[in-house]
Amino acid sequence: MPEQKKEIVLSGIRSTGNLHLGNYYGALRKFVAVQNDYDCNFFIADLHALTTNPNPEDLHKNARQILAEYLAAGLDPEKSTIFVQSDVPEIAEMYLLLNMHVGIGELMRTTSFKDKARKALGITAPADDSDEAFEKEIIGASTNKRVNAGLLTYPTLMAVDILIQKATKVPVGKDQLQHLELTRRFARRFNSFYGVDLFPEPTDFDFGGQPIKVPGLDGSGKMGKSEGNCIYLVDDPKVLRKKVMHAVTDEGPKEPDSPMSEPIANLFSLLELTSKPEVVQQFRDAYADCSIRYGDLKKQIAEDILAVTTPIRERVNDILADEEYLAKVVRMGAEKARERAAKTLAEVRYIMGIRKF
Ligand code: TRP
Repeated sequence: MPEQKKEIVLSGIRSTGNLHLGNYYGALRKFVAVQNDYDCNFFIADLHALTTNPNPEDLHKNARQILAEYLAAGLDPEKSTIFVQSDVPEIAEMYLLLNMHVGIGELMRTTSFKDKARKALGITAPADDSDEAFEKEIIGASTNKRVNAGLLTYPTLMAVDILIQKATKVPVGKDQLQHLELTRRFARRFNSFYGVDLFPEPTDFDFGGQPIKVPGLDGSGKMGKSEGNCIYLVDDPKVLRKKVMHAVTDEGPKEPDSPMSEPIANLFSLLELTSKPEVVQQFRDAYADCSIRYGDLKKQIAEDILAVTTPIRERVNDILADEEYLAKVVRMGAEKARERAAKTLAEVRYIMGIRKF
């Protein structure tokens, strides 16, 4: 009996900055858990990282770092296809082809583009948020403050990442759902324009189970790179303890069974992620009877987080020191990713009328 085809899961991460606890619990740990059940593809989106014009040394360094962190956290190159986006030139070619079916209007109306374009132009609070006003801002911008075209076509590139592998399950954060919606739209449009059934429509993949909340240390909201409230997997123990000890709290419960303020509820969320249920209960009881000391709570959180991150941090360092291993992993990944990409690209070229003479 032929083995049943596994569904194709694909996700990318832009190589900007280190992975934090939110990436770990929200994505990475789940990736590791599903490696046996799906045809898993994880890649480092270094071409996407180029849209913000990083310095070349940083681009490469960050890609290596994130790759090492993926591997250290348990992604297995024998089970999953782990690759670097720029190692698959088929993506760049298909990006050109797909762009012929993408409207500049729909790209300009994408939320992430508006945010990034405004940032590039140094516009903080737009007086007029209409699409017309925004288009005027962009078109009227002086050339030394340009919004590069790569930023505009970011969703095309992301759609190509997904469609070229014919992935159907795409785990992404909330901020990427609009891009996934555009991917579906482009897939439908291509299929119907050429009267083919080439691209499946991908959907968001949350791995079932409860969504995991990983709050930041600043008292409100989730942990995020741009929020500056992160605990990184590779944080040195001293730095990590300091960050946790500085987390925002309140004045403490004044009467038994008081409701928790957001900063304290957030600390308990972190505790729940990394500590044993008995320990969590012990602190809950202490909160309820007002005997809790936030210093003790934070110490517990810091030590339990360190128990998770220390082995990962140590493996990251070992992996980074092993050039040969890293090179082998990306070579293997690129080979596998290119095989399917080349096949899809050949189909796309043929369908669009690029044929052999
Ligand atoms: N845009 C995604 C992000 O910033 C990264 C990404 C690029 C991606 N290509 C992808 C995610 C394809 C999923 C599938 O988070």
